[in-house]
Amino acid sequence: MNILILGSGGRESAITWKIKENTNIDKIFIAPGNAGTNKYGENINIQVNDFNKINNFCIKNNINLIIVGPEDPLVKGIVDFFKKNNPDIFVFGPDKYGARLEGSKDFSKKFMQKYNIPTAKYLSVTNKNIQKGINFLETLNPPYVLKADGLAAGKGVLILNDLKTAKIELENMLKGKFGDAGKTVVIEEYLSGIELSVFVITDGKTYKILPNAKDYKRIGENDTGLNTGGMGAVSPVPFANNEFIAKVENKIIKPTILGLQNENINYKGFIFFGLMNIKGEPFVIEYNVRMGDPESEVVIPRIKSDLLDLILSTKNQELDSKTIEIDNKTATTVMLVSGGYPEKYAKGYEISGLENIKNSIVFHAGTKQDDKKILTNGGRVLAITSYGNNIKTALDNSYKSIKNIHFEKMYFRKDIGNDLLKY
Ligand code: AMP
Ligand code: GLY
Repeated sequence: MNILILGSGGRESAITWKIKENTNIDKIFIAPGNAGTNKYGENINIQVNDFNKINNFCIKNNINLIIVGPEDPLVKGIVDFFKKNNPDIFVFGPDKYGARLEGSKDFSKKFMQKYNIPTAKYLSVTNKNIQKGINFLETLNPPYVLKADGLAAGKGVLILNDLKTAKIELENMLKGKFGDAGKTVVIEEYLSGIELSVFVITDGKTYKILPNAKDYKRIGENDTGLNTGGMGAVSPVPFANNEFIAKVENKIIKPTILGLQNENINYKGFIFFGLMNIKGEPFVIEYNVRMGDPESEVVIPRIKSDLLDLILSTKNQELDSKTIEIDNKTATTVMLVSGGYPEKYAKGYEISGLENIKNSIVFHAGTKQDDKKILTNGGRVLAITSYGNNIKTALDNSYKSIKNIHFEKMYFRKDIGNDLLKY
């Protein structure tokens, strides 16, 4: 069997690292990959949204399965493209209609409302009903949450403390502040609690719950400064005890899967539930139709079962015949980023010391191979994952490993997981 994995981040490194355990694989390719994925397979220089090139490559290389890492190709319809042009290839991910759970906030809110899934109160607004939006804002308490309906590279959410600013920003968004993504704006009630992420793999009929995780989105310690793609993650989340996860399963996961079936959505893939825990009750902040990054770098290392076997079982909706085994150990990951990120940063610095890492797994993200050297090639550069019997020992391992690694202007948060030590 030959497999193509789409993407180039830490998430795709973790997926590739895991599935290569399966001995039925002949070849793994990663498009476009990074300097780490080429240790587990072969990188090919094709971009994730170039469906025609991907298809030509698949035909030439007898690809049987495509695993899609990021949301963009899913939202653009890669599953539908292959169904039409090359149905022999199994593309793991939801079709374009299902990917709207992430690709359209308006769609996902309507879906949650229809299936009684706990989420924040909301109103969708366009240029045609601005006044209704302004009236709705006036009924809410601060802070005010404004979201561009479409994908906006993680930047389409504004949280504003002041009503006047919220009204102005609503108009700015509708005027094109986030381009077409903001032509519809979802105004939401603010949910105050602790965030966490729960993941499932589904074949559209049934599901298996994967390890949960908490990520750290802000660039600065104590959750200050700009939002990033994620600066570190911990799995499992100690406050997500059995009672809480049972609530998530009954009030959120089961109705979501039922909704997919009722809406005839062809969904074989991962679902990432971004949740808020409000005094022990889970609410959905957002759906993502893929794994998280850096959550994958702690979730996937805790899956003991054969992940490829689980993925393949979704093709003919046979996931119910499988069991999933999870490692009880804690996993933590700390992201090493380029100084300046998430704003302007430089690329091309040489990374040294990786050969000295013995007690952690190094998942490459923004890296590239240049002859024998490994160079930085993005904002988030490496995810340093470690296991431990508890959060503290896992984190100690990650931070000890990091002492060996150097590149110019390297930055990382030193407080990943600190907020969880009290549980
Ligand atoms: P989203 O893209 O919908 O996940 O929003 C990005 C981030 O904004 C989330 O991870 C939360 O930290 C925050 N956020 C979004 N919606 C809300 C809400 N209704 N209440 C509080 N925080 C929110
Ligand atoms: N770490 C958040 C995400 O992958 O969307």
